[in-house]
Amino acid sequence: MAELVLTERDGAVAVVLLNRPDALNALSDELMDELVSTLTELDRDESVRAIVLGGNERAFAAGADIGELAQASAIDLYYQRRVERWDAIRGLWTPLVAAVSGFCLGGGCELAMSCDLIIASETAEFGQPETGLGIIPGAGGTQRLTRAVGKALAMDVILSGRRLSAREALQAGLVSRVVAREAWLEEAKRVAREIGEKGPIATRLAKESVDRAYETTLSAGVEAERRALYLAFASEDAREGLQAFTEKRKPEFNGR
Ligand code: CAA
Repeated sequence: MAELVLTERDGAVAVVLLNRPDALNALSDELMDELVSTLTELDRDESVRAIVLGGNERAFAAGADIGELAQASAIDLYYQRRVERWDAIRGLWTPLVAAVSGFCLGGGCELAMSCDLIIASETAEFGQPETGLGIIPGAGGTQRLTRAVGKALAMDVILSGRRLSAREALQAGLVSRVVAREAWLEEAKRVAREIGEKGPIATRLAKESVDRAYETTLSAGVEAERRALYLAFASEDAREGLQAFTEKRKPEFNGR
């Protein structure tokens, strides 16, 4: 049987692609299991300094698997902890770049929003169509979309089922960059390589610090940032990065 998640390495970058093209990468239980265990394993590998998560040109992912949801009871969902599993993705230390082309809907949009940044093809369409199925987004959509684009647009998208084009998503702050159709994966890899060239302890601490901005007060966030700075400063990589600058050479970070 074909693997539901494909992984390849490109130096310090790991590329993870959802591989259920016939179902527009609908996030079945099995696919999510495979995805979470793949990402967790890559996260433990120190030589992986950034991860790209993508689908294919037609779809990043068209949401949770509706066939499976139609068969499940609320108590099944509760016991199977289907959505709770997603927390592992937010818990990854390694910077995660979503490469989005085509449909990015429902759980697919929630998955992209669980990444650290989103690079979108000009073909990308973002939406949370769950209310049309009589349910609501359940993997963080009502919270993360609202934080990313604000209440007015989040309400519109979630209540009416309206999809956002890549350009609208860029303007609203949901995505970081929009690229030409054919560049959707290459550009995400290029950005991931750039991230991978930075100090790996620094990028991880920086990610953690930015994330904290959503969870805490400004003063507590600034305090935590300062401590993260001291930790970064104590690394060999900080010595190397600062020294390399003064010696006008490229730093060589070793993650120590
Ligand atoms: N689950 C299961 N199968 C799906 C699917 C999904 N979310 N999305 C698409 N598919 C399947 C279709 O059933 C179809 O399969 P068959 O060829 O076997 O019939 C195949 O993928 C291709 O899809 P379409 O023929 O529908 O393609 P289209 O181009 O006409 O339409 C689309 C594309 C607008 C994305 C449409 O497929 C669609 O509306 N999909 C569902 C989107 C959705 O509602 N997502 C939310 C799911 S609920 C959720 O995600 C909950 C949560 O928060 C965790």
